[in-house]
Amino acid sequence: MPQEMIQPEGRSAPGVEDPITDTAGYHDSESRIAIWGHPLHAMSVAFPVALTFCAFGADLFYWWSGATRWAWAAYWASGTAFLFGLAAGAIGTLELLSVPGIRIRAMAWTHFIIAMLLLSLLGLNWGWRMTGWQEAVLPWGILMSGFSVLVVVATGWHGGKLVFDYGLGTSKGSSRPSG
Ligand code: HEM
Repeated sequence: MPQEMIQPEGRSAPGVEDPITDTAGYHDSESRIAIWGHPLHAMSVAFPVALTFCAFGADLFYWWSGATRWAWAAYWASGTAFLFGLAAGAIGTLELLSVPGIRIRAMAWTHFIIAMLLLSLLGLNWGWRMTGWQEAVLPWGILMSGFSVLVVVATGWHGGKLVFDYGLGTSKGSSRPSG
C-alpha cells in the first residue's frame, strides 16, 4: 500500500482497508520474553552465533594442521552451537507467538524460516560428527560448517532488521522512568 494512504499512527486512511495495519495489536510489538524489559532472545543469540564461527574456525585449523584436537574442538563447538541455537530459537518462537504486533508481520515469519534452516543445518553438522568426529571433518563437516556461517550471518542480519528497521521487540518507552 502506498505510504500516503497510511495515516501516521499506522491505521489505513478512511475508505482504505488494510487487514494488516487495521488489526488490533498491530502496534503491540514490545518484547514480552524479557528480563526487566531486556529481550532474552537478543541476549541468547550471541552464543550460537559465536559457536557457529568457532566450529568453522576449528575445522579450518584441523584441515591446515591435521592436529586431532581441532577436530575434537569442532565437534564440541558444532554440538553446543546447535543446543544454544535451539534454546535461542525456542525463546524467539515464544516471542513470535505471544506478541501480536510481531506475530502479524510477515518479516518475523521470514526470520523464523531462515532460523529453522540454520538449526537444521547445525543439527545435521553435529549429528554427522557423531559418526566419527575426526573422519567427519573432511570434506562434509567443514562444508556444513562453512555453509552454517553463511546462514548464521543471514539470520543475524535479518534479526537486526526486525529490531532496527521495524522496531520489533523494542521498548516504546512505557517502562522508562520519567524525567
Ligand atoms: C527459531 C526461531 C526464531 C524466532 C521465532 C526468532 C524471532 C525473533 C524476533 C521476534 C526478533 C525481534 C526481537 C525480539 O522480539 O526479541 C528476533 C531478533 C533477532 N534474532 Fe531471532 N528468532 C529465531 C531464531 C534465531 C536464531 C537461531 C538466531 C541466530 C543464531 C537469531 C538471531 C537474531 C538476532 C541477531 C536478532 C536481533 C537482536 C537484536 O539486535 O536485538 N534468531 N528474532
